[in-house]
Amino acid sequence: MRHARSALAAAVLSAATFAFLAVVPAPAEGVDAPSVEWGRHVAIMAGCHDCHTAGYAESEGRIDPAAALTGSPVGFQGPWGTTYPSNLRLFAAEYDEDQFVDRMRQLRSRPPMPWFNLAAFDERDLRSLHRYILSLGEPGRPAPAYVPPNEDPTSPYVVFAPPIMPASRPAN
Ligand code: HEC
Repeated sequence: MRHARSALAAAVLSAATFAFLAVVPAPAEGVDAPSVEWGRHVAIMAGCHDCHTAGYAESEGRIDPAAALTGSPVGFQGPWGTTYPSNLRLFAAEYDEDQFVDRMRQLRSRPPMPWFNLAAFDERDLRSLHRYILSLGEPGRPAPAYVPPNEDPTSPYVVFAPPIMPASRPAN
């Protein structure tokens, strides 16, 4: 009787252990592994689509699979000249995953690219972003090239200019 009881206890214990193991994911599949899904999440949260995906803001956040991160034909003009959000598929295709991580950590760019925000990306974010960008498909064509301040762009652009303050406005 004593044997039967301890055998039963052991069976219950091992069943409980098995159930516990079954719900704990293996580390490789855990939440910390880089993934295309996390890259998509990061790209949305960090606002990459806002500028690098044409039509994204106008469609209230619908990601057009054909346009996703292929850059924008509409530039931003300011004292720095006129910049066009680059085609990130072409950019990402130039690097393997390790090189991409290094490149993004060293990236400096002209306005309004918020390159300084990349400092908040950890390694998983950067690896995931690379996987996400590569998953988007054919790189397509480059965005219009940078135009220096003293030259006229041939592609459309939005002007970033300081507001004219009332005190400096000429009197009527
Ligand atoms: C406010 C608009 C804006 C946002 C938001 C933005 N970018 Fe940019 N990005 C630009 C512009 C404009 C350029 C081109 C700058 C230039 O010509 O120097 C650029 C350039 C880049 C480049 C350099 C490409 C090259 O060919 O050298 C990379 C990489 C990049 N962006 C990645 C990102 C990522 C990743 C995000 C999201 C974290 C992001 N950008 C968010 C506007 C933006």
